[in-house]
Amino acid sequence: MDKPRKKFADILEKAMDTGNTMDRDELLFSYKGILYPVTLCSAEVFRAMESLEARSDDIILAGYPKSGTNWVGQILSDLVTILEKRTQNKASSVNDEELEEFPYLEIGDTEKYERMNKLPSRRVIFTHLLPENLPRSVFRNKAKILLLIRNPKDLATSFYHFSNSLSLLPSYETWDDFFVAFMTKKMPWGCYFEYLSKWNKYADDENVMTITYEELKENPVLGVKNIADFFGISLTDEELHIIVERSSFQSMKKNSQKTHGEFGKVLFRKGSVSDWKKLFSEDQNEKMDKTFEERIGGTKLGKKLKYEIYCKA
Ligand code: A3P
Repeated sequence: MDKPRKKFADILEKAMDTGNTMDRDELLFSYKGILYPVTLCSAEVFRAMESLEARSDDIILAGYPKSGTNWVGQILSDLVTILEKRTQNKASSVNDEELEEFPYLEIGDTEKYERMNKLPSRRVIFTHLLPENLPRSVFRNKAKILLLIRNPKDLATSFYHFSNSLSLLPSYETWDDFFVAFMTKKMPWGCYFEYLSKWNKYADDENVMTITYEELKENPVLGVKNIADFFGISLTDEELHIIVERSSFQSMKKNSQKTHGEFGKVLFRKGSVSDWKKLFSEDQNEKMDKTFEERIGGTKLGKKLKYEIYCKA
């Protein structure tokens, strides 16, 4: 089931090399009011994206950066690999190297979407975008979307370490500086609270299923089963357990050189819940608790995040 993802590692390594040659204040650009890394995204590619024809059998993973997208992405790729093995249609496998596209929708070149339109089903697509910035065909053609969310304190902690380890993102001298930027909408892919509030409007759609990082961590067997059910994929017990084992933090970290190249060393950091307790001051806790309550607290996604359990000391 292992597939070397050379293209994936190559694209990231090239972006990291370019980032190394740039000044901090050149690393991000703004498109429709949201910041993105210049080494990965561009206005031309965003415009070309509208030509993507989404399909009702697409498998779309939406998640803000650092919510565990690579983890759930691995689960989804394995589900598709199992489907392909069953149909024995190896010749048309979307996972073949020559057919494989970088899975993040908004990262690539302007011709990517025309190539994607020719790919066989089922396509696996990841995105960090807000719903309003997705190609309109995603909702028009009723593509299924798995929405992955993570408690904002661990997500901010993960984003801080990531920003300071990856040359393609602006780094921060201190955690306090990062916290201010996180709370004042200076992050690539926009503000997390805004992300949650915009996606919350879709939380009741029948084509959208929400899963939290924490619930998947607590019960991966149930999590993988629910994901497979949502996409209409039945699994034997053996298949279920193989996917769970292959997507454990330890397995993914061990395999990371093959799957993610140098980027893997940065990506697979802790893979745990509550690491935020080492960084947040009392004042920062108060500020985030207040913002969460005001912006997300009473919403469906807010409740799903179980803030009282995962974000209170
Ligand atoms: P930490 O930095 O807290 O360790 P993304 O893929 O969206 O960039 O998210 C990265 C976060 O998911 C990192 O969090 C990473 O360690 C964690 N992660 C990656 N694979 C995981 C796995 N198999 N199980 C649990 N967490 C995982």
